[in-house]
Amino acid sequence: MLRDVRQGLTTMPKQLSPKYFYDERGSELFEEITQLPEYYLTRAERLLLEKKIPEIVASVRPCSLVELGAGSATKTRIILDAMRESGCAECYVPIDVSKDFLEATAQQMQADYSSVRITPVVSDITEPFALPPVASPTLVVFLGSTIGNFPRAEAVRLLSHIARAMGPSDRFLLGADLVKDPAIINRAYNDSRGVTAAFNLNVLARLNRELGADFPLKDFEHRAFYSSEHRRIEMHLVARKAHTIVIPEIGEVSFKEGETIRTELSYKYDRATLEDILQASGLSMEKWMPADDGAFALALARAED
Ligand code: SAH
Ligand code: AVI
Repeated sequence: MLRDVRQGLTTMPKQLSPKYFYDERGSELFEEITQLPEYYLTRAERLLLEKKIPEIVASVRPCSLVELGAGSATKTRIILDAMRESGCAECYVPIDVSKDFLEATAQQMQADYSSVRITPVVSDITEPFALPPVASPTLVVFLGSTIGNFPRAEAVRLLSHIARAMGPSDRFLLGADLVKDPAIINRAYNDSRGVTAAFNLNVLARLNRELGADFPLKDFEHRAFYSSEHRRIEMHLVARKAHTIVIPEIGEVSFKEGETIRTELSYKYDRATLEDILQASGLSMEKWMPADDGAFALALARAED
């Protein structure tokens, strides 16, 4: 974290990886975001899962479920329920960088799915990570459009790692937010209750707590905007005035008035772009499942031989 923060705040333009949002408070704030009327992504994906999971489970017949960036695993329950009903739900492996939140999720899931072996893995999915041995077929899922937080090259690196770990009967299920009216996207990242702003600013509170930094939170404000050119939301923290902060092991970091730290990118896709990313990762799309209103899509893929 120290190395990344030094690198991100001492180069121009300043940036921080979105993975640092997710300390325990950040994970809670993300859960609040998923309940917001403006944040359509979670609701759209839940509806799609409810509609499509029965046929996906019937065709893949998975015995294990591996989930990247599991969070609270609320929607995952739809998949585990269908697996249990179809007679095979041996193992669930939630992977997440947010340690305490993951442990709480795993405990809750174990209490609710007592016959399923729950093996949480605390790991940064941008680094190569090892998976515990699981019974095949395995369904690997990456929900919530978290793929969108990775620019193409990083997404391909991460999905290539998954593809290499998959056997012929395993499948990969991806949830992705789609390109749409920019006003709808902008509203989702600029909610009226200010939860997304609190989520964004929380990364500075985390740096203050964990690195002893002295960011004055009141001197930064949330900004999120959709770029039609790049088909992505950019989230920034904007310095309200010129000032200098200190991070003990890094030193002084100066901000001009209006200067920003870019904290997140959130790409929006269409079918062709996702097919291209999957193919570059050694995966081929078997099924494309868009929502009726085109807001969100699920894609099912297998590893190429
Ligand atoms: N899958 C859930 C949560 C999405 S929020 C949903 O659909 O609602 C993104 C999740 O990915 C968070 O739980 C966060 O902690 C995790 N995450 C973000 N970057 C990560 C990384 N580099 N490695 C592992 N987990 C990551
Ligand atoms: C987790 N990720 C897909 C969310 C997104 O929409 O990019 C994180 C988020 N950022 C702001 N609101 C939600």
